[in-house]
Amino acid sequence: MSELAEKVEQVKTVLASAVAEFGTVTFANSLGAEDMVLTDLIAHFQPEIAMFSLDTGRLPQETYDLMQAVRVRYSVPLVIYFPESSSVETLLEKIGVNGFYDSMENRKACCYVRKVEPLQRALSGNKAWITGMRREQAVTRGKLEVSAYDADQGLQKFNPLLDWTNAHVWEYIKQHDVPYNKLHDRFYPSIGCAPCTRSVTPGEDIRSGRWWWESAEGKECGLHAGKISQISSFGSAR
Ligand code: ADX
Ligand code: SF4
Repeated sequence: MSELAEKVEQVKTVLASAVAEFGTVTFANSLGAEDMVLTDLIAHFQPEIAMFSLDTGRLPQETYDLMQAVRVRYSVPLVIYFPESSSVETLLEKIGVNGFYDSMENRKACCYVRKVEPLQRALSGNKAWITGMRREQAVTRGKLEVSAYDADQGLQKFNPLLDWTNAHVWEYIKQHDVPYNKLHDRFYPSIGCAPCTRSVTPGEDIRSGRWWWESAEGKECGLHAGKISQISSFGSAR
């Protein structure tokens, strides 16, 4: 059996055991390359796992194109969660439409409204969630485990691709003709919101194009790195 085939079998085991042990399991699908591997595996082998995407309202057009392609290609529904409109309105009043560039506090407030609060809604009612995080993606992800209790969200969290390399991910995508975000072909290895993502030069860190104006240690949006305080708790922005 090839190394990739072995890795795939391990992921299938993790997905099956998540369902067997926790029942209601949902996959947070960012539509990044890793998440497209999981989309394909879940759709084929564990379709009882629900899937959702957080549409922040600021995603690149290429991500919306892929969202549509997933709908056409796979029979499992991808449920979309959107930020609360009144929270976005309050945020924009306080920091302005692009105020997230001004300070980490503003950036985290924006991520809270557009990602963290919708994530909490998406996870409610589930006993476990699945992500596409990999250890080698970031200094902040070195100590992750395949399965661990997520005290922030109050449910079990599975990272089935934890030990996959970037090469494994792309070998799978090519082998199974899995749809992927066209920005990956333009040197965007990690893709989030359009205004907070840029391309990298070869050899640069995978996530160096995300929130490039911040230090590597702080580069998490609150989906995975502890709770971020709500918008009401931060002061005047400008
Ligand atoms: S982020 O926290 O910096 O934005 P990253 O893009 O590396 O995260 O994605 C890590 C994991 O977080 C993804 O594999 C996915 O499970 C989840 N995730 C990130 N963004 C989204 C999104 N917009 N919708 C759903 N899940 C997401
Ligand atoms: Fe806002 Fe940027 Fe965070 Fe997206 S990544 S929610 S635009 S700060």
